[in-house]
Amino acid sequence: MHKTGTAWWQHGIVYQIYPRSFQDSDGDGIGDLPGIMGRLDHLVELGVDAVWLSPIFPSPMADFGYDVADFTGVDPIFGTQEQFDALVTEVHRRGLRLILDFVPNHTSDRHPWFEEARRSRDSAKRDWYIWRDPAPDGGPPNNWLSNFGGSAWEYDAATGQYYYHAFLKEQPDLNWRNPAVRAAMFDALRSWMARGVDGFRVDVIWHLIKDDQFRDNPVSPDWKPGMDPFHQLVPLYTADRPEVLDLVREMRAVIDEYDDRVLIGEIYLPLERLMAYYGADLTGAHMPFNFQLIDAPWHARTLEGLINEYEGGLPPGGWPNWVLGNHDKPRIASRVGPAQARVAVMLLLTLRGTPTFYYGDELGMENGLIRPDQVRDPFEKNVPGRGLGRDPQRTPMQWSAAPNAGFTTGQPWLPVSDSFSEVNVEAQSGDRRSMLSLCRALIALRRGEPALAAGAFEPVSAEGDLLVYQRIWGTDRFAVALNLGSTAARIALPERFADGRIHLSTHLDRSDALVGATVELRADEGVIIAPAKSAQVKP
Ligand code: GLC
Ligand code: MG
Repeated sequence: MHKTGTAWWQHGIVYQIYPRSFQDSDGDGIGDLPGIMGRLDHLVELGVDAVWLSPIFPSPMADFGYDVADFTGVDPIFGTQEQFDALVTEVHRRGLRLILDFVPNHTSDRHPWFEEARRSRDSAKRDWYIWRDPAPDGGPPNNWLSNFGGSAWEYDAATGQYYYHAFLKEQPDLNWRNPAVRAAMFDALRSWMARGVDGFRVDVIWHLIKDDQFRDNPVSPDWKPGMDPFHQLVPLYTADRPEVLDLVREMRAVIDEYDDRVLIGEIYLPLERLMAYYGADLTGAHMPFNFQLIDAPWHARTLEGLINEYEGGLPPGGWPNWVLGNHDKPRIASRVGPAQARVAVMLLLTLRGTPTFYYGDELGMENGLIRPDQVRDPFEKNVPGRGLGRDPQRTPMQWSAAPNAGFTTGQPWLPVSDSFSEVNVEAQSGDRRSMLSLCRALIALRRGEPALAAGAFEPVSAEGDLLVYQRIWGTDRFAVALNLGSTAARIALPERFADGRIHLSTHLDRSDALVGATVELRADEGVIIAPAKSAQVKP
């Protein structure tokens, strides 16, 4: 048991690996499982606790693995079943946990289930997917839109019906109202847990159930030309349906058949709807992913407001979590700039709740430049030129100044960012002031201090560009003061921190400095301050 009495997924830190881009071991230019295996020491040195792998299952790769053709297999691009089992063993030997991506909303159109379903209207698997007759004019059955552009309905000429796909037409949606689908998919979860997998990040969990009357979605008043065409309609009848919460509860019950596993849900919804996914009496997802920092404008007052709203909106006992980046969103260092990216990781690692790190963010990697002929993401191909493409945040991990940043000896599937000669693990490991050094110091401090790992959160009022709060565990306390602005600013500290010490600065140059009743923060500086009488040691 952890000294804070919390579960591993509560005090731990999650690190997301996009397997195609982490480390290639066989020179095909695509990252793989042996590659990940060879880089586990980086994760140990960084100090994270759990690794979440984006999909590694057999897939035609229309959506780079989010189109699954076999829920219990491993794609040969990534490795073998034996290599997967070896990875589980090695991850556990290092005291880490392994979380897999589970993609239940849809399958690949090449999944044997779909191939069987589309064979005829009487197929035994027909009802495993969502089929509708054409509208009277022969067009799609209703106005539902695909997240990746165009209608969400694809006509199947052989059987004269349309099937529904919330994403690509190569990703037909499963019919989760069918108990046979539930049973088959839950068995897939069991098979991975039996092999030692510690939990799942569930892809688009709020999408799983659609309206049983197939009503048209209402037109959105906020949409303007040039915006993502999907947002022309409010997805009222295609997502976040009331019945989905029962399904999440069922899924959680499957997870609970095994000890100490975690269920994380990918959910992009407003706060009050997000909270519903904890489930009545916390019988839903352990952690509905909280993406507020990903989308929020980077202003102290905005962040203060959303942090307080999130803390205040949690159900009793609901465990918070924070995410700064993922494979679908622009990188944090590009969004807020390299200097503020350091403040952002201090924020992520000092807020109350489980932090999720995206690979490369520990180096301050920025969005890569993708030339038009290098585009791989189907979203960008379907809806080009609007900045929706996700390739920039999926460029290869930068390990060293060696060719291709040490990622591959072959031709990388996406270009390595030009920044790699300076922004890489090797160079930053040798630099006491680097982003990587900052992340390691922050994580070490968080791991060692119950107040930061699991303590209470208390806001401290501040103005302008300053964001200030305390973390408290028994008699242990820390104050965190972040300057989101690009000019110096002075803050008055809560009384008990007067004459305290700066424990850690984002600039990594004044650990142990004494503070008075106030402290001056430089531009883009964040500090963690311990009270005067504290016997806490330096990280
Ligand atoms: C989720 C994934 C995204 C994928 C989509 C369809 O949002 O994070 O990468 O394209 O679902 O599976
Ligand atoms: Mg490879």
